[in-house]
Amino acid sequence: MKETKPQLQNPISQPPAPISILVTGGAGFIGSNFIHYMIKAHPNYIIINLDKLTYAGNLENLKDINRMDAGFKEQDLVGGGFENKIQNLKHQIQYPISDIQQSTRYHFVKGDIANTELVDYIFERFKPNYVVNFAAESHVDRSIENPKIFLETNVIGTQVLLDVAKKHWLASGKWKEGVKFVQISTDEVYGSLGPQGYFTEKTPLDPHSPYSASKAAADLITKAYFDTFDMPINITRCSNNYGPYQFPEKLIPLMINNALHHKKIPVYGDGKQIRDWLYVEDHCRAIDLVMQKGRIGEVYNIGGHNEMENIQIVNKICSILDELYPISKNPTSNMQHPTLKSYKQLISFVADRPGHDRRYGIDATKIHEELGWQPLVDFDEGIKKTVEWYLNNQEWMDRVTSGEYMKYYERMYSWR
Ligand SMILES: NC(=O)c1ccc[n+]([C@@H]2O[C@H](COP(=O)([O-])OP(=O)(O)OC[C@H]3O[C@@H](n4cnc5c(N)ncnc54)[C@H](O)[C@@H]3O)[C@@H](O)[C@H]2O)c1
Repeated sequence: MKETKPQLQNPISQPPAPISILVTGGAGFIGSNFIHYMIKAHPNYIIINLDKLTYAGNLENLKDINRMDAGFKEQDLVGGGFENKIQNLKHQIQYPISDIQQSTRYHFVKGDIANTELVDYIFERFKPNYVVNFAAESHVDRSIENPKIFLETNVIGTQVLLDVAKKHWLASGKWKEGVKFVQISTDEVYGSLGPQGYFTEKTPLDPHSPYSASKAAADLITKAYFDTFDMPINITRCSNNYGPYQFPEKLIPLMINNALHHKKIPVYGDGKQIRDWLYVEDHCRAIDLVMQKGRIGEVYNIGGHNEMENIQIVNKICSILDELYPISKNPTSNMQHPTLKSYKQLISFVADRPGHDRRYGIDATKIHEELGWQPLVDFDEGIKKTVEWYLNNQEWMDRVTSGEYMKYYERMYSWR
């Protein structure tokens, strides 16, 4: 008798397997934008955000994400029997388990990237496929005041992450499939340019501030893990970012905030320092591409093709504010400065920062040619969106500048 083949039923389409990413420094400016971007762009991704919540880390940047849910269960990620392990680890690490906020797609862990035991615990528990390391002390002026913490976080912290990732991803001389460490660096590691030329990935590193020196050191240790151990890594070096959720000690939010409160708008030196500005969401898209498709061991420059003098940026911000929120409508004005007609009248030139680099310019040809990336938001559109965001989120700005935002963590997590 002829054997009849069993009819194959249409396979029920399965959701793609979850992929987990350890994002460090995810409560900061770019990290929080990256988490927003990735949660929207990849429904099968699970994000673990490890952040120490320094003055620059603000969980309010992510408060809408705490409520998101894509239906993955804890056991999808960690396998059986894990709860027992958590109970054991609970006594071994100095972070109470209540510090770990749960949702199915987004987990927050408060802690230091330089804490080997904690990072090891996160690897045990969440088995990340990727590490994207944003965590850093990032403000040049602060690095001139106190360089030590820059070395502790930016250099030692990166080395700890690399080492723990290696421990979990390398077995019997073979790296696990589908894992990668992405180090988020900066164009500042290249030093300063004259009026001509651009930084390419081959430009020698020549950092000038303790901040950029610590970032260059982190790049080199990351590269060393590739050269020595074949670790799957990429390094991205991006130009200046702007957009929502930036801490108002950096140029653009500082200028907006001072203007709105009719404080002096301080411009360093002659204001003719040139930076290449990129809208933060374009940066996030570039990191996503590098993470998925970047050639192992490679460095990718990311830039906006948008060089501008600081003073041009400040003038643009003032013009947008004059249009969107004219002095006549700002209640502070009439009381404090009855003669003020334009925010530009608040601009004030102050002594330059020591060692201030004159010009940065990024050649982003490699990421364009290899990965097809280019910026999508042009500067005029991006800066208008950014000023609008800060105008619409003045409460966020007030809470950050008053330090009130630091109590958010206490309110959100202390009772858990
Ligand atoms: N902002 C830019 O224009 C720019 C441009 C290029 C590259 N970068 C790089 O991108 C990364 C993010 O920059 P940003 O502007 O978002 O910085 P940020 O200062 O806004 O955020 C840094 C985050 O890291 C956290 N953090 C600091 N020390 C930590 C530690 N020891 N352990 C865990 N978390 C810690 C902070 O709490 C904060 O949430 C940095 O590595 C920076 O060098 C920034």
